[in-house]
Amino acid sequence: MKQLFVFLVITTVVWACGGSEQPPTDNAVTSTAAAAPDGKKIYKQNCVTCHGLYGDMGASGALNLQESVLPLEQRIVVITKGRGAMTPFENLLDADQIAAVAQYSLELKK
Ligand code: HEC
Repeated sequence: MKQLFVFLVITTVVWACGGSEQPPTDNAVTSTAAAAPDGKKIYKQNCVTCHGLYGDMGASGALNLQESVLPLEQRIVVITKGRGAMTPFENLLDADQIAAVAQYSLELKK
């Protein structure tokens, strides 16, 4: 009977550990599923507070994205690392999301 108890405890621990390894696997699946993130949605969620829906609001000294001539690669750097009053997004968005929103910011150009 005692052995059965020990067996159950071990099984439970192994099962519990296995269970706690699930989230990273789920995240991997989620980030694969998010391989093509929606730049427009990310923009609306993260950028409109300063840049406005059309990129020209200019709150907190935000540059006008309709007039910006910054190329894609440098937009990715600005969004990732932040610049001046702009928040860095490296801890808020993953690389794919940053690339997608940078691409979307180019579409705001007139
Ligand atoms: C807290 C306000 C704020 C938020 C939120 C914000 N920005 Fe900015 N953004 C700024 C400011 C201020 C600048 C000008 C930085 C400077 O003066 O060097 C800027 C500059 C930029 C530039 C550079 C434009 C150029 O011509 O140099 C890009 C591109 C940009 N933002 C895109 C975004 C995107 C995309 C998001 C959302 C992921 C975002 N920003 C969120 C405030 C913000």
